Amino acid sequence: MNPQAAFPPVSVAPMMERTDRHFRYLARIISPHTLLYTEMLTPRAIIHGDRDHLLGFHESEHPISLQLGGDNPEEMAQAIKLAAPYGYDELNLNIGCPSERVQTGNFGACLMATPIHVARLVDAMRGATTKEVTVKHRIGINGRDSYDELCEFVETVAAAGCRRFSVHARIAILGGLSPKENRSIPPLSYETVYRLKRDYPHLDIEINGGIREVGDVLHHLQHVDAVMIGRAAYDHPYLLAEVEQAVFGNPHAPTRREVVERMLEYIDIWKQTPVSSHTLVRHMLGLFAFKPGTRRWKQHVSELLPRAEDPSDAVRAALATVPAAVLDERLPIPELATAEGE
Ligand SMILES: Cc1cc2nc3c(=O)[nH]c(=O)nc-3n(C[C@H](O)[C@H](O)[C@H](O)COP(=O)(O)O)c2cc1C
Repeated sequence: MNPQAAFPPVSVAPMMERTDRHFRYLARIISPHTLLYTEMLTPRAIIHGDRDHLLGFHESEHPISLQLGGDNPEEMAQAIKLAAPYGYDELNLNIGCPSERVQTGNFGACLMATPIHVARLVDAMRGATTKEVTVKHRIGINGRDSYDELCEFVETVAAAGCRRFSVHARIAILGGLSPKENRSIPPLSYETVYRLKRDYPHLDIEINGGIREVGDVLHHLQHVDAVMIGRAAYDHPYLLAEVEQAVFGNPHAPTRREVVERMLEYIDIWKQTPVSSHTLVRHMLGLFAFKPGTRRWKQHVSELLPRAEDPSDAVRAALATVPAAVLDERLPIPELATAEGE
């Protein structure tokens, strides 16, 4: 971990249909310090779509990175200029996504085959903003998976001014596996990412892929500058409270009950809008993961929500099924290490 780095040492990964503004608001209640990413947006969506809907976020979500996926430098620059008034803290380019749809658009992981084009994109992005431009990528793709090729990619993109690389520690197999399979079948190689940090100590390297526990986060931080957590943060958002305590030294994580209460206040504001109750509440389903009562909580929310006139009533009724000991549990304060001999 680089103590001089200007960005947080832990982030919540960009995830389509997961890290929308409502999930990010929840994540931010639990963790004031992690860097949050948006879902990936295409420049065309920003240029032609409903920008307030796509780009709006709550002030509390800072620091927040806007992730873009595309292959056209001019469109990328135009989209970044249009996004500027929303005040994102950084722009991130997606070179890791293996989906067929994204490949058809010639962006995402397939661009790892053309580092020079990625450099052009980064250059265009940097020309359109004063904010940091970062890249998220894989350690390779099929047919281009050697360490030398990874270095060529990183060096070429760094030469265009990218200083931070978020590296999913597995290759993407294009044309053979679904995006879901591409997140589990190619083996993880954390050592490759550590090696990248050793070989390019001046670059900020963030590791990603399969990181599920706070102990693992602390371990990776001995080798790289930052850790990006995806599915584990979504499936078990209270993990971020442990991260706050262990990584940021913040002992003031709200209890799960407090988290839900703050979400209820948030839902109160949004329920006056056309946003569906499901959209507002669904991200809270994992809040009690690994705790007694989690099944009943999920079951009750899923059953009551579609029938409730007011989503808050459904959440309150489901909450009543969770044991108080779980609702009000605080993280144990780590024991202070005592010096030997004392
Ligand atoms: C549902 C889902 C959607 C995703 N969407 C994106 C995306 O929009 N952009 C991106 O760069 N990665 C996306 N990813 C990949 C994650 O950012 C991350 O790289 C991957 O899940 C590995 O990290 P993890 O093992 O911690 O989940 C997505 C992952 C999931 C599970």
